[in-house]
Amino acid sequence: PLHFAVMGNPIQHSYSPLLHSLFAKQAGLDINYEKMLVPLEDFESAVHTFFEQGGKGLNITIPFKLRAHELARGNLSRRAQSAGSVNTLWMEEGQLHGCNTDGIGMVNDIRRQGIALEGKKILLLGAGGAARGVILPLLESGCQQLQVVNRTAAKATELARQCQTNLPQYANIFRAGGFEHIQGQWDIVINATSSSLQHHTLPLPAGLFTQDSLAYDMVYTPDNNTPFLQQARKDGAGITSDGLGMLVYQGAESFFIWNHIRVNPVPVLETLRQQLI
Ligand code: ATR
Repeated sequence: PLHFAVMGNPIQHSYSPLLHSLFAKQAGLDINYEKMLVPLEDFESAVHTFFEQGGKGLNITIPFKLRAHELARGNLSRRAQSAGSVNTLWMEEGQLHGCNTDGIGMVNDIRRQGIALEGKKILLLGAGGAARGVILPLLESGCQQLQVVNRTAAKATELARQCQTNLPQYANIFRAGGFEHIQGQWDIVINATSSSLQHHTLPLPAGLFTQDSLAYDMVYTPDNNTPFLQQARKDGAGITSDGLGMLVYQGAESFFIWNHIRVNPVPVLETLRQQLI
């Protein structure tokens, strides 16, 4: 079998082995995908050993995504460069390569729900690693505007400055600020803060949403109902989605990088949701 793994610390709750075994079944590939709990000081050597022993592909999760980015520098995809972090590693011509599939995974999950991003006004809440990971695919989606707001406004402004430098073609549609700068109605509001994990609500003004607005939380819960999604529904958001689909779609994109086969994530997402409930 082809050998894959996900490295993290902690790792016991990872759904990646399940996802990839279901993708492989669809694709008719014989794979072995394991969870690897890597001690903090051993990450780099663990990656090298994995590929020396013939491993085909690695997913990287908390807390190693920045170190994976550093390890693969020189061979980073545009998505990895823009995200500043890497969740997918592989070898090509004897060299380690890195990509970040989180952002395209989220965009594809939004499209799965029948929602186009072209011409849309998108509000992105948060300016940490999770937010940075989705900015390039959002800008490339054809949206009309992307505003990033953060509790610490300076971190959002810094992302705008990086956009100005690295993606000047999008500088005119990119805005940044603090929560107090949020105005008007939005087509898509994405929560990339870790507020739902702490069961906090966000200081959002009323009237952000319409019946046609999508509220999307990168976090997921078994019943597709995070604190942010509850807040959004109360404020009139007609469509709400947690981030379980993002998890499945980022996996499908990693699977494509490694195996050059496109799988259908929809039945895999259904299976995963059933497992959670
Ligand atoms: P991640 O990799 O999940 O993005 P991170 O880089 O630590 O983690 O970023 C966490 C994000 O959640 C930040 O945008 C943080 O805002 P600050 O930069 O102001 O710290 C945001 N965040 C966390 N808890 C929050 C809360 N209770 N309210 C608002 N924003 C919150």
